[in-house]
Amino acid sequence: MPAMRLDKLLTHLNCGSRKEVGAYIRGGRVTVDGAAVHDPAAKIDPDAAAVALDGQVQRYRAQRYYMLNKPAGVITASRDERHETVLDLFPAGERRGLFAVGRLDKDTEGLLIVTDDGALSHALMSPGRHVPKEYEAEVEGLLAADAAERFQKGLVLKDGTVCLPAQLELLADSPALCVRVTLREGKYHQVKRMIAAVGGRVVRLRRVRLGGLALDPALASGAYRPLDDAEIALLREQRQQPG
Ligand code: URA
Repeated sequence: MPAMRLDKLLTHLNCGSRKEVGAYIRGGRVTVDGAAVHDPAAKIDPDAAAVALDGQVQRYRAQRYYMLNKPAGVITASRDERHETVLDLFPAGERRGLFAVGRLDKDTEGLLIVTDDGALSHALMSPGRHVPKEYEAEVEGLLAADAAERFQKGLVLKDGTVCLPAQLELLADSPALCVRVTLREGKYHQVKRMIAAVGGRVVRLRRVRLGGLALDPALASGAYRPLDDAEIALLREQRQQPG
């Protein structure tokens, strides 16, 4: 890769906007090969230089990985004529090649990975992998007394579909009934249908974990941020778990 301005390189490395990284550089937070560089226009060889922000070496990543806190009301698709999509939450210049890993219903919120790494996405969503997915649901109605046991044994849905063993835990029963559901598969409307099979109705659903990766509580609804190296490694680890 040809030499590049330091501020441009840091922007490519997902360290912030051009304005933000300019401030980091002028503020002395950026080093190149161990020495502070205060000039955003300094020319850097991206293949050879070790560029660090606050002491953390930033590496160029060919692929992009984001955690999105999906809001209700947007659909998990790349493009749609009528509805706002999860990719519409990204600036137009960043969308190219990106897609969501798996699917959340329009009214479901929470953790969605958006990437251009097709192999990782396939591995995480492949039915044989049984990657755990954790949801928090607000529920109306009364759940059957043996609901958790039936989840654990492999619940049978109203249409006869048999589910893999899953966990159902009570989080709160006042002022609203809230449960945590952990699945190892991803059938259509699965949490809603499982809760319906034990007598409840999901009125709010949020995914909070995918494999080892938890939704960042600091990420506002509708916001996204790049995954850091440790988080990408967590997802990759999941990929290597035996199905
Ligand atoms: N289960 C559902 O019912 N909906 C989702 O969006 C995800 C899991």
